[in-house]
Amino acid sequence: MMPYKDKHILGIVGSPRRGGNTETLVDTILASAVEQGATSEKVILNDLEIAPCQACNGCQRTGSCVQKDDMEKLLILMKKSDVWVLGTPIYWWGPTAQFKLFLDRWYGIDQRSFQGKEVIVAIPMGGGDEHYARHIIGMLRDICNYLGMKYVETIVAPGMNGRGSVRESSRTLELARAAGMRIMNTC
Ligand SMILES: Cc1cc2nc3c(=O)[nH]c(=O)nc-3n(C[C@H](O)[C@H](O)[C@H](O)COP(=O)(O)O)c2cc1C
Repeated sequence: MMPYKDKHILGIVGSPRRGGNTETLVDTILASAVEQGATSEKVILNDLEIAPCQACNGCQRTGSCVQKDDMEKLLILMKKSDVWVLGTPIYWWGPTAQFKLFLDRWYGIDQRSFQGKEVIVAIPMGGGDEHYARHIIGMLRDICNYLGMKYVETIVAPGMNGRGSVRESSRTLELARAAGMRIMNTC
C-alpha cells in the first residue's frame, strides 16, 4: 500500500533514561514511519531546558510565554510536524516530571495551532497491568480533544523494568512498528 501522504513525524521522549524503553518505542515507531516515506525528528525532554509554568498568565495577555527557553524551539518543531509520538514511562501512575512540565507549557500556546495534529502515545511501565496507564491516556485524550487534535493510538508496554526490556519483547516492538506504518496509511 502506498503511503497516504508525506508526513513529518516528531518523537518526544519523556524519560530521562537514554536508550531505555520509552526511547526504544519512540524510535521503533519513527523508523517504521520513515520506511513508509515519512521524515522524522526526535527530542529528549531531559536534554532541554524547559522551565515550569509560573501561572503568571503573561501568555494570555501577550500571546507568548515569559519563559525564554528551549520550549520556543520545540514549539516551532511541533507546529511544523504532522504527527507527534509522545513517549513517557509511568512514574507513580502518571507521566514523568519532565513530560508534565512540557505539557503545562502548552497553556501558553495559540490554542488553534495544534488543531489536526495526530498523536501516538507510547507508555512503558514496570507493572504488569496495562490499566496502570489509564491516567496518562485519559489526560492526553482529554487534552487532544480540548485542542482539536487527533489521538490516534496508544502503545502500552507493561512489565518493562530494565533499561532494554522492551527490546526483548518482539510482540511490543511489532505493535510499535505497526503503529508507525498505520499512521502513514491514514489521512
Ligand atoms: C520514579 C519512578 C516511578 C515509577 N513508577 C511506576 C509506576 O507507578 N507504575 C509502574 O508500573 N512502573 C513505574 N516505574 C517503572 C517505569 O515505568 C519502567 O521502568 C519503565 O519501563 C521505564 O521506562 P524508561 O526505560 O524509558 O525510563 C517507575 C520508575 C521510576 C524511576
